[in-house]
Amino acid sequence: MEQTTEKKKRILSGIQPSGSFTLGNYIGAIRNWAKLQDDFECLYMVADLHALTVRQVPADLRARTKEATAMLLAAGIDTKESILFAQSHVPAHTQLNWILCCNSQFGELSRMTQFKDKSAKHPDNVNGGLFTYPALMAADILIYNADLVPVGQDQTQHLELARTVANRFNNAYSPTFTLPDGYITKEGAKIMSLTDPTKKMSKSDDNQNSFILMNDDRDTIVRKFKRAVTDSDGVIRFDTENKPGISNLMSIYNVFTGKSMDEIAAEFDGRGYADFKVAVGEVVADALDPINAEYEKILADKAYIDNTLKEGAQMASKLANRTLTKVYKKVGLYQI
Ligand code: TRP
Repeated sequence: MEQTTEKKKRILSGIQPSGSFTLGNYIGAIRNWAKLQDDFECLYMVADLHALTVRQVPADLRARTKEATAMLLAAGIDTKESILFAQSHVPAHTQLNWILCCNSQFGELSRMTQFKDKSAKHPDNVNGGLFTYPALMAADILIYNADLVPVGQDQTQHLELARTVANRFNNAYSPTFTLPDGYITKEGAKIMSLTDPTKKMSKSDDNQNSFILMNDDRDTIVRKFKRAVTDSDGVIRFDTENKPGISNLMSIYNVFTGKSMDEIAAEFDGRGYADFKVAVGEVVADALDPINAEYEKILADKAYIDNTLKEGAQMASKLANRTLTKVYKKVGLYQI
């Protein structure tokens, strides 16, 4: 490997194993994770502990963690370049979580909009983990002294809290944690629902046609795009305000073809929406098909997945334990 004078910045990100990933997950997160590997030192994590903040069927969670790992590998996370692991396999995260809980304020945690939203959605299960979720997320990040954290809009408040807690700890004890910055990629920041383009694409949507899953086959993908809700003026033009459906399709087409919005408008000038929708479906299927084939292959190889996670956990633990030891000392826990 070539020696560079400047040390690569470190990136950490996580994704919950909440079933199949959507096209939104792929464009907004996973695809970028793969790209970032060239320029950064990357740690990627399946956040299985965060998934426990809502009720899970144990067998499903177990299967989904394995599936999420297989999909990340299929989508280009390369363990020769990056560290890929499951959160629960690195106990130092939960150990640091406790210390950070003791340095997070009730008021701060109460103000988190995700906590408020999820409490409203599951009023029968407003548990302590849901409340301290951002402290665990801060631990995930701070334990590796990550410089940059790629996150979606919905996680920026949690990242801000991680900075607040890191800063508080550094001031109370001594400089320990790197203050992490968000890493926002310009493209595909937010992919919208195909049936209601004013809402984010989400697999928890009741309407199956509103989202594309990374595992959908070509016919399903094209069919869902054909049914995408647009508008009635018949012109292909990027205008998120007045034409959210068409603009969403243009954003997706842009991601997979690299064509600018003007180029896309010119390409489909005078052609109907039907043609355009099929074209979008085709480029998405072209991108997802090979990933899916690879995913099926990897998923069938449990030993490979287990080994990958084992090695990932070992490498991550080595880094994480270093930070944890320092932190335990600094806060005054008796050392033997
Ligand atoms: N909370 C994130 C989400 O649901 C997942 C996550 C857990 C994460 N720990 C993280 C993301 C640390 C970035 C960094 O999307």
